[in-house]
Amino acid sequence: MFAMTKKMSRIPFEGGIREVLAAAEKMEREGRKIVHFEIGRPDFDSPMEAKKAAAEAVLGEYVHYSPIPGLRELREEIASWESHRRGIRFDPEEQIIITCGAVEALIISFVALTDPGDEILILTPCFPAYRDQAVLACAVPVLVPVRLGQHYEIDFEALENAVTPRTKMLILNSPNNPTGAAVEGKDLDRLCDFIVRHDLIAISDECYGEFLYEGVSESILSRPAMAERTILVNALSKSFSMTGWRIGYAIAPRQYYSYLCKTHQLFTTSTCTFSQKGAIEALKSGASLTERMIADFRNRRNSVMRALDRCKGITYNRPVGAFYVFPSIEKMNVSAFEFCRFMLEEEGIALVPGDAFGLERHVRIAYTCPEKDVVEGMERFVHGCRTLSMR
Ligand SMILES: Cc1ncc(COP(=O)(O)O)c(C=O)c1O
Repeated sequence: MFAMTKKMSRIPFEGGIREVLAAAEKMEREGRKIVHFEIGRPDFDSPMEAKKAAAEAVLGEYVHYSPIPGLRELREEIASWESHRRGIRFDPEEQIIITCGAVEALIISFVALTDPGDEILILTPCFPAYRDQAVLACAVPVLVPVRLGQHYEIDFEALENAVTPRTKMLILNSPNNPTGAAVEGKDLDRLCDFIVRHDLIAISDECYGEFLYEGVSESILSRPAMAERTILVNALSKSFSMTGWRIGYAIAPRQYYSYLCKTHQLFTTSTCTFSQKGAIEALKSGASLTERMIADFRNRRNSVMRALDRCKGITYNRPVGAFYVFPSIEKMNVSAFEFCRFMLEEEGIALVPGDAFGLERHVRIAYTCPEKDVVEGMERFVHGCRTLSMR
């Protein structure tokens, strides 16, 4: 008889984004009109140039394994795309590895660079997979809450208190899922000092790096001391609306590169070859789509905020990036689960409880549906809050 492993018992299978989506889709099959605020997936089509290139590749000869770290041409394209943005040169031969989405770049980093029992500091609220992937890698996730103010404000006292001799790694995601907040420059300086002083590896998940609507968002890699200890994780999933293509990547310091490649080889061998051909074209000529998405998301974010301003009992921090708003429902007298269940059943809008991201009494609104749905969904949200506050 199969007895559930300790690992699996520590990975929740319910209460997350996919469950909300499944419940919402079931209601849709029953004829309800649901507004989808739960899934963090841009609703735009992928760049046509990428589609054509991938189609040509699959009809041609790109149907075999690619080199383990990915097609050289794609690694070169990524090196130039990233270098152009950051003014830092990356070596496609010794630093860049193409993975099946950012999730694979994350898990191979955890598996390759930690031993069982090593601890990973995770700034929270965060993308739920960090915690579960750390467990899967036999490492120990240590959640360190940030303060949610105008920025994603790091609590350095909490961070120092969380360090032990087993602490190996720290994960930072800015702009952040689920809050839409970014870390401020002065916090980044202190964070770098912390990482160097404790001799840690930083994982910088910059999947939302393109999605910034105001202010600045600096990468930890902009600090020279971080070059030799940071794994940059990124993907085309969000920035080019290519979530289904499974093209992500890790850019690692040279001393870690062979370990990541080996782990990637053991996990997946290589990512889909014709997807990689399409990704090359997206990077070369997909910038106009990214610009269009940013403009649309900015409008949608503003619509969400305007509606939230009308809700008594709801507070939120103005998000600067990503495509999420993460309001607090603390004053509503219900748990986030109850709030989300009510909103789905009574108002037909799908939201995710903050608990999935490591923070109770908050809900995540992903404005990844067309503007008219965002407006309609937020009208329902306002109505739902009014009903709840009169109970
Ligand atoms: C912060 C963050 N990192 C990584 C991912 C996964 O990206 P991918 O689809 O490229 O695996 C997501 C997806 O929502 C995310 O929000």
